[in-house]
Amino acid sequence: MADTVSYKELGFVNTREMFKKAMKDGYAVPAYNFNNMEQLQAILTACVKSRSPVILQVSKGARDYANATLLRWMGRGALEMMKELGQGVPVALHLDHGDSFELCKSCIDCGFSSVMIDASSKPFDENVALTKKVVDYARPRDVSVEGELGVLAGIEEHVSSEKSHYTNPSDVEDFVKKTGVDSLAISIGTSHGAYKFKLKPGESVPPLRFDILEEVEKRIPGFPIVLHGASSVLTSYIDMINKYGGKMEGAAGIPEEQLRKAAKSAVCKINIDSDGRLVMTAMIRKVFAEKPGEFDPRKYLGPAREELVKMYMDKNEKVLGSAGRY
Ligand code: G3H
Ligand code: 13P
Ligand code: ZN
Repeated sequence: MADTVSYKELGFVNTREMFKKAMKDGYAVPAYNFNNMEQLQAILTACVKSRSPVILQVSKGARDYANATLLRWMGRGALEMMKELGQGVPVALHLDHGDSFELCKSCIDCGFSSVMIDASSKPFDENVALTKKVVDYARPRDVSVEGELGVLAGIEEHVSSEKSHYTNPSDVEDFVKKTGVDSLAISIGTSHGAYKFKLKPGESVPPLRFDILEEVEKRIPGFPIVLHGASSVLTSYIDMINKYGGKMEGAAGIPEEQLRKAAKSAVCKINIDSDGRLVMTAMIRKVFAEKPGEFDPRKYLGPAREELVKMYMDKNEKVLGSAGRY
């Protein structure tokens, strides 16, 4: 590792204070993934404009795609850009779905303020042991750690499971006590990607298992809960993609009113990646369809970035309730 640095020197914050305030005031902090400059600019701009705290998420796939060193410097650069804009908001730099102690350690050592260790597909005791090992490294460095219990269905490269297994509420107290995590991701019917439900014609999206969430809240009152796989897969962008030459039939996500309800509960962090991907794809397809001669990336990535800002602001204001908190 070229340089070891604490996130505190860079101006990031861990998620503890963010979650305390979100829990008290009944909203959820957005956790948006980025893989490139336009996504990062849009996330920061939207959150500064809407006065929302934000968790910048970097996945293992993002590190492989964009280069781990470049990505972390981009995170730092974005923070400097925000300082120049004046009136900053709290920003955490978070590893999404860390799958090993080494990966979590490497992120902590290079300035991440928060990491997720996702050992949810392992047996309970192995999940506890690996998660605790990460917590033991993170704690003295004041880095927050997210663990996960239960498995989300999904088809992403690094997050792959055929079927979801809901979180068993009777496990959560033991897990939190034994590991010392700061927040817990649970499985209540969300899943990763743009195809969250296989719906037959006329069927609507099944509701999230709020009964499991309530049971979890009873077992660990006041403890920050995380929802992964929370994109709504907005039909306006799916329609745009299909109109301009794409083919995304049967894509469906989590209805916004269900996320609003979750955000008012102990759910303090809501993860959204796919919605950003869909906005970019829709806008780029539109430009290409309307101006087939366009070849300057700024002319198609620019409009995509503008639309991303609008979508993220909308999420903060109308879905997560995180706007106007700072
Ligand atoms: O939860 C998964 C995130 O959407 C990241 O996906 O591994 O394809 O970067 P990725
Ligand atoms: P979506 O695929 O629903 O956006 O979920 C993203 C996520 O959970 C990142 O960890
Ligand atoms: Zn996830």
